[in-house]
Parts: sequence; C-alpha cells; structure tokens
Amino acid sequence: MTMEKGAMVTDIKPGQKVKGLFCVASKALRTAKNGSPFLTLTLLDKTGNIEARIWDNAEAVNGEFEKGNIIFVEADATEFAGRCQLKINRAERAEAKDIDPADFLPESPADLEKAWRTCRKAMNEVADDILCAILKEIFRHRETSQAFRNAPAAKKMHHAYIGGLLEHSASLIELARLITGKYSQLDRDILISACLLHDIGKIRELTWEHPPIDYSDEGRLLGHISLGVQMVDLACVDIGIKTDNEKVRALKHVILSHHGQREFGSPVLPMTEEAMVFHMIDDLDAKLNYLAGLKASMEQEEGCSWSTYQHLFERYFYLSNNRKNQIGETMDRRGRKEPKSAAAQPLLWDMDKPTGNK
Ligand SMILES: [Fe+2]
Ligand SMILES: [Fe+2]
Repeated sequence: MTMEKGAMVTDIKPGQKVKGLFCVASKALRTAKNGSPFLTLTLLDKTGNIEARIWDNAEAVNGEFEKGNIIFVEADATEFAGRCQLKINRAERAEAKDIDPADFLPESPADLEKAWRTCRKAMNEVADDILCAILKEIFRHRETSQAFRNAPAAKKMHHAYIGGLLEHSASLIELARLITGKYSQLDRDILISACLLHDIGKIRELTWEHPPIDYSDEGRLLGHISLGVQMVDLACVDIGIKTDNEKVRALKHVILSHHGQREFGSPVLPMTEEAMVFHMIDDLDAKLNYLAGLKASMEQEEGCSWSTYQHLFERYFYLSNNRKNQIGETMDRRGRKEPKSAAAQPLLWDMDKPTGNK
C-alpha cells in the first residue's frame, strides 16, 4: 500500500504547517553567516517545486537521504525573497515501495493525444521521399515513438514535464505551418522534419522513469544534438540512404544549428533559411513556455505582477495585466534594476550550465 502523498507544492502558502512526501531535486550543505551548517533543498512533486531549508542538525540529516529520494517532511511554510519556502522540522526518507512515482513527475497540461495526432499527420504529409523514409524509420520503432510521446523536453526551463517533448514538437509543427504558408521560399518538408527530429536526442539525453527528471550519462557526455544526428545517420544506414545526401545534410544542419549559437551548444550557426527560421521558432516556443510556467507559479502568490529576478534573461518579467502593479522596493519602475548578487549569465536557453548540455 502506498503512503498518502499529503501536501502538494502548488497548495502550499506561507504561514501553513506542511506534512507530506516530496522528491529531493537538489540538496547542498552550506554554512550560514554565523558559521553553523544548514541544508538547502529543492523539493518537488508533480505540481511544482519549492525551496526548503533545514537549520537544525543539518550535518547529520545530510547523510540520511540523497538527491532523487522521496522524503516525508514536516515543515513550516515561510516567505523568503518574495517566494514561499519551507523550514523543515522533520525529514525522513520514505521507502520506494511506499510511493507512487506518478505523484512526483509533472505532466504536460496539453492534450497529448491531439499533439500526437498533429505529429503523425505532419509526418504523413512530408512529400520528400528521403525525409519521409527517415521519419518513418525512426518512428516505426515502438520504443522510440513511445519515448518521444513521454519524454520531457528539458530537465528544467521549458516543457520540463512528462509529454513536454511531444507538446513542444507539435507546437513547432503548427508554427512551421504558419510560416511556410507565408514564406513560400522555405522548404516545408525540411522544417516539418526538423520539428519532429531536432530534439529527438532528448529521449536518450534525459531520464524520467523515476523522479526527478535528470540527465542520463550518455546525455551529459554527448548531448541531445549529437545524439539526434546520430539517430538520423543510423536511420539512413538502415534504409540504405547516403548520409551525405543533400536533403539529409539540410536536415542535419537544422538539427545541429537549432540552438542558434556555438556557446549555446550548436557546433554550427544556422546557415540556411530553414535553419534560421527553425532556430527562431524553437526559441520562441521554449521561451513562451518558460514564461507560462513562471506566470502560473506567480498566480499562486496573490497580487504579484512582477516576477522575481530571472538571471537567465537578466530581467524581471511583468506577467499579469489584470492585477494591481506591485513593484517591490528592490526594483526600479522599469523593472530593470539588477540585484547586486545577480551575476550576468548568457542565455543558455537549451542548456543546464555554460559547460554542460541540457
Ligand atoms: Fe534542443
Ligand atoms: Fe526544441
């Protein structure tokens, strides 16, 4: 029998007493200004994540559970820097047999059956024989198509939930359709194939069977861009198409360049019209999805129109037009003031760290 999940992240408000099971997404032992150690944690369940601190007995508690474990927590919900945070009074590891993993994996809010129909239809509409054959070869494997339907598109940032890759891919197909309707010079088959295959390497880059969503060893070492190109090449070999065929090369160029810049993980810059357009729509869909998530998390905090400082974008966001403006003291009226602690970071949109791949 599984243990009761208890409190859900999305329902937690400052001032509440909290009891429940949460997945440890990150854990670090730090030292406070007064010299005493404390544990800083990110806890998650399928509804979101929340920062937490353990002040008492931190060193001893640190050894009792690891990242990825499910823990039972008793805590006080407090407010820190405008965000809800848990001050944990008791934390102990729960037995794997007592938990339902589905409670801890966030799911896409989109209609995934509809998204899959969009992808299937787009696949069938690809007129180019070579691109059509590559798509059919890759997706005919049940394991691959099943993983494509379930995989998240990222560990965090955009579409970081079960079904995220499918939702993102279907959304890009819709955008590619709109744009190719307007700009007839674009190769629609290349763009549609890229929508389906540009992030296909994420099915090997990420792991999601057990919470939290994380990188596989292969994913960290090779990254989804090279894994995706490898999958395309392998499909070509299996069906007897030369890997340097012109269409194959055009598709691989879009996959390789879709992050837009070398420092964001692309080994080459977008150098075809299709690659330029694809990078733009991929970036657009990812960023708007990130902002939708940010807005949803802010809606839990009443009267909040300005986001917390978003280091990745080096700005605050004003995300509500139906609420009273609540500009905080730490922010100027244009939302541009940068906190002293904020280190400027490049916009590594599809990456976890400047040196790693997401
Ligand atoms: Fe990507
Ligand atoms: Fe993408």
